[in-house]
Amino acid sequence: MLLGVTITPAMLIGGGSALLVLSFFQVLQGLRKIRFKGRMHLTVHKGVAFVLLAGMCFHGTAALAYLGIIGG
Ligand code: HEM
Repeated sequence: MLLGVTITPAMLIGGGSALLVLSFFQVLQGLRKIRFKGRMHLTVHKGVAFVLLAGMCFHGTAALAYLGIIGG
């Protein structure tokens, strides 16, 4: 249980896959295979980096709850 929600394998697979796809986008953007004009490029790169970091922390916490290491 995490915040009153029972974590299922589907949630972890869905969240993990979304993070993986977002990481591919981040790397392609970093390599400038995907481009945005001007300041937008760094703004998007930084924004996605922040979403990835927050998402990874949440994914890890949810996985620990699923394994019964944290939560009740
Ligand atoms: C092959 C992968 C990557 C390349 C080649 C790359 C390239 C770059 C480059 C060239 C910059 C400088 C700003 C710009 O010109 O756009 C930058 C900034 C940055 N990158 Fe990446 N990046 C990659 C992957 C990532 C990943 C995976 C993350 C985090 C999840 C990340 C987070 C950031 C952040 C936060 C900055 C801003 C740094 C600052 O404020 O000066 N990058 N990246």
